[in-house]
Amino acid sequence: MKFLLATIIWTAALCTAADTSAKPTFTKDIAPILYERCAHCHRSGDIAPMPLLTYEQVRPWSAAIKQSVAQRRMPPWFADPHYGKFRNDRRLTETQIATVTDWVNAGSPKGDDKDMPPLPSFTEGWSFNRPPDLIIEMPLEVKVQAKGVLDLQNYYVKVPFTEETFVEAVELRPGNRRVVHHSIVNIAEIPEALEPKALLTGEKHGRILWKLIGQAPGKGAESHLPGVAKRIMPGTYFEFNMHYTPTGKEETDRTKMGIWFSKEKIHHEVITTLAASEIYREGKQIARADLPNIPANADNWPIVGIMRVPDDITIYSLSPHMHFRGKDMQYSVKYPDGRDEVLLNVPKYNYEWQLNYEFATPPKIPAGSVITVRAHYDNSPNNPKNPTPDQEVVWGQQSWNEMFVPWIEYSVDKNNLLATPRAAR
Ligand code: HEC
Repeated sequence: MKFLLATIIWTAALCTAADTSAKPTFTKDIAPILYERCAHCHRSGDIAPMPLLTYEQVRPWSAAIKQSVAQRRMPPWFADPHYGKFRNDRRLTETQIATVTDWVNAGSPKGDDKDMPPLPSFTEGWSFNRPPDLIIEMPLEVKVQAKGVLDLQNYYVKVPFTEETFVEAVELRPGNRRVVHHSIVNIAEIPEALEPKALLTGEKHGRILWKLIGQAPGKGAESHLPGVAKRIMPGTYFEFNMHYTPTGKEETDRTKMGIWFSKEKIHHEVITTLAASEIYREGKQIARADLPNIPANADNWPIVGIMRVPDDITIYSLSPHMHFRGKDMQYSVKYPDGRDEVLLNVPKYNYEWQLNYEFATPPKIPAGSVITVRAHYDNSPNNPKNPTPDQEVVWGQQSWNEMFVPWIEYSVDKNNLLATPRAAR
């Protein structure tokens, strides 16, 4: 008996010793996770409120970090893990979550300084680790009034290229995040006769050819796979389409865009459009302009978008956009052989995060396929983001109106460009 007890005590002591040595430390176990999965946003000058790079910065937040990762609120990510693999997926693995939890439970120890990994390399003010090849600023500093509601404003900058140019990465950065609700840069065509002054009034001019980049919390920087790029033609204009929300005091903003030219031969152009050239309600096709308002208190109001695929395409990314009442969105494809496949499912859409889901292996979709987007809106009091459940919702650009904007980025396989990159000219 005495012997048995001694064995138990000895075993227990051994376990405790082993556990202590295995306790995660900041320098060895936590910093690598934060650098890989969080630092992109949690560094000075970026969208998160606090940097999470050094022990001193992280320590006061450790309880909040444990909670936010355990509840999977951070990093923000809303795609159903059952469908699709995405190259910008920053979700933590179960093991990483356990490591963070164990570390916080152990009192968030620092560990040995010599275990500290090198700081991740970022370019100050931009998301990619080299500075842009070209920075395009809005043509003026915009004054944003203190109060009221502003219509969308448009400012134009002439494309400074004399030849067709391909860009492998683009980033749109608000000058003043307090007032920029979201922004878009489109490539637009403007009649020659227009006075340059007219391009500085905020009014809308010309015709949008395509969207170059959209910016909103969680989104605004995109880099394409080698050999695929977005096209910018000489003679066109960058249209800065700005949505400002007054903050209570007068503010100014001068948003800018960074452009990284393609360094490789480009074989395909990336096209950004909506996967909803046809819209259906209860099986009936409806013109976008004739969409009925969403009734008061409706808690699961459906809408369906269809994109027919006449040629073989390759899809690079999908990005659902709705407003306060957006509830869920799912993109699926019906192949010519009748098979159905879900490409992206966002079961709990969150308007505060506009994420672009970029495929790790871009799916090839054969001609004759039909892409279907199914979305629902919750205009009931159960939706905590709903400002007015007792009122019907009108379609429109303001957050309290609704939108059905299932973005898709793809290229048409047969349009093989083999364009020469700018850098090689
Ligand atoms: C895409 C950008 C982004 C990434 C990646 C990101 N965060 Fe955040 N985080 C934010 C923003 C913006 C806020 C403030 C707004 C909010 O709370 O939603 C925030 C808030 C927080 C907060 C405080 C509020 C809360 O929810 O408790 C914690 C803690 C946090 N993040 C931890 C992390 C950790 C840990 C990671 C990585 C595992 C991470 N974040 C990754 C953008 C990001």
